[in-house]
Amino acid sequence: MKIVVLGGTGMIGSKVIANLTERGHEAVAASPDTGVNTVTGEGVADALRGADVVVDVTNSPSWDEQAVRHFFVTSTGNQLAAEEAGGVGHHVVLSIVGADQEPESGYLRAKVAQENVVKESGRPYTIVRSTQFCEFVRSIAEAGAEGDIIRLTNAYFQPIAADDVARLLTEAIVAPPANATIEIGGPEAIPLDELARRTLAHDGDPRTVVTDPEAPYFGAKVGERALTPGADARLGEVRFDDWLANNVPPK
Ligand SMILES: NC(=O)c1ccc[n+]([C@@H]2O[C@H](COP(=O)([O-])OP(=O)(O)OC[C@H]3O[C@@H](n4cnc5c(N)ncnc54)[C@H](OP(=O)(O)O)[C@@H]3O)[C@@H](O)[C@H]2O)c1
Repeated sequence: MKIVVLGGTGMIGSKVIANLTERGHEAVAASPDTGVNTVTGEGVADALRGADVVVDVTNSPSWDEQAVRHFFVTSTGNQLAAEEAGGVGHHVVLSIVGADQEPESGYLRAKVAQENVVKESGRPYTIVRSTQFCEFVRSIAEAGAEGDIIRLTNAYFQPIAADDVARLLTEAIVAPPANATIEIGGPEAIPLDELARRTLAHDGDPRTVVTDPEAPYFGAKVGERALTPGADARLGEVRFDDWLANNVPPK
């Protein structure tokens, strides 16, 4: 199959391109670097010509509420219009587990708006909602830093390694359209404060993690299980401790 990966130069996109190529597909990465801008529409129709499947793993350069909503809604609309014109048979988009559970977060609201553009388009689709990537736990924790302490919620996260995201996303890309939302996640649910303590211990970082159930994530208080997937989720294999030990040199 010819599969165009919009955002195919990014962290998940580049791994998906490698997986699809290894399986013998014609996988094409498209992004502003390759002359394709899904927000302005530049190069989109040309890039999608002859594609069987289009994968959207783009991300907004700005997370400002207005900007991120504009990015995901406009980008997705442009993609789907080009897919309709070109007869593309499957649109796959990567979204976030629990996005609809956190209405105070502008970024997550924008991801829900992106999903709605897909669902309302009438085009064949699969929405793959993932939990937070292991690769982002450090920066999520840093958002709670206040001097020598890091204040974080003890809501459960279920971090998944980017390699597992790409592997499970690849399965959805080569399958027929689900015309539904499927969930993927890491193998174990661990409270965010505990994930941060493990990361700090790995780094030899002397700061203290203070547990605060009211501490915000993406600007909003998060429900205890709002960001963990349902029982039907497909799970990755890499445990957070193994990911830390094998992928992250201590700071
Ligand atoms: N972080 C998490 O824990 C998490 C969890 C679940 C789902 N997700 C979702 O996963 C997706 C991919 O994340 P990622 O970390 O792989 O992203 P990333 O590494 O930041 O890559 C983003 C990609 O989007 C491209 N891009 C940016 N603006 C574009 C535009 N106007 N037109 C076309 N392409 C554009 C970038 O191209 P350039 O490099 O050329 O700028 C890059 O290839 C996002 O949609 C995110 O919401 C993230």
